[in-house]
Amino acid sequence: MRENQQEQDFPGTDRRSDTHDNALHSSPTVVENANPPASPNGVPHLTRRSFLMWAGSSGALGALPATAPAAPVAASAPGGTVDDSIVTVRLTVNDITQEATVDVRTSLLDYLRENLQLTGTKKGCDHGQCGACTVHVNGRRVNSCLSLVAMHEGDSVTTIEGLGTPDRLHPLQAAFVAHDGLQCGYCTAGQIMSAAALLTEPCGRTDADVKEAMSGNICRCGAYSNIVAAIRQVRDAD
Ligand code: FES
Ligand code: FES
Repeated sequence: MRENQQEQDFPGTDRRSDTHDNALHSSPTVVENANPPASPNGVPHLTRRSFLMWAGSSGALGALPATAPAAPVAASAPGGTVDDSIVTVRLTVNDITQEATVDVRTSLLDYLRENLQLTGTKKGCDHGQCGACTVHVNGRRVNSCLSLVAMHEGDSVTTIEGLGTPDRLHPLQAAFVAHDGLQCGYCTAGQIMSAAALLTEPCGRTDADVKEAMSGNICRCGAYSNIVAAIRQVRDAD
């Protein structure tokens, strides 16, 4: 149906002469001498074949390109022998110098857990939203899941294992135990690392200030009030 409509809209109709001012109609002689055959009722009857025959004999197709332009060819990949997907970085982790040869995409979190087996740092969301992976880099807290090892040449990293030991707990670790600042414990390493950094930051003295400063650390168990109490104990002892 649609094809028939298109065929009747081609040369020989009024619409053609009004709207198609192109190579097909560039010569009045062509139209005059090459009218397609009319049907018995006087309406020009066009088929795809008759149109092509008309166009060919009139020379109209000569205005079209002889061949279609070539399709774009994908650019070839640049050559090279250097494997730039691997990088070697020297950094200090818990006061021990490390030389990390890793894939450039390796996060600091994965390096700590998978390469150094420092599994106290937890992977929660892996998207910078829960704080379970918090460590210190040069004394400042960072979400290690959002940081690449390749960015830490010469840096000093501290994890929960470097903050205290079972025999010599950091005051915050002891306070978390004393105040029941944990239930399942999955968020606890990140909470304590954030709290330890908070002690060196310009944080206000109220509980609201502490909650605001700790808002990047999520506790699914809801131990927030006890966590704040533990932090307050350590701050007040300063
Ligand atoms: S695992 Fe890094 S913020 Fe959640
Ligand atoms: S103690 Fe379970 S998530 Fe915080």
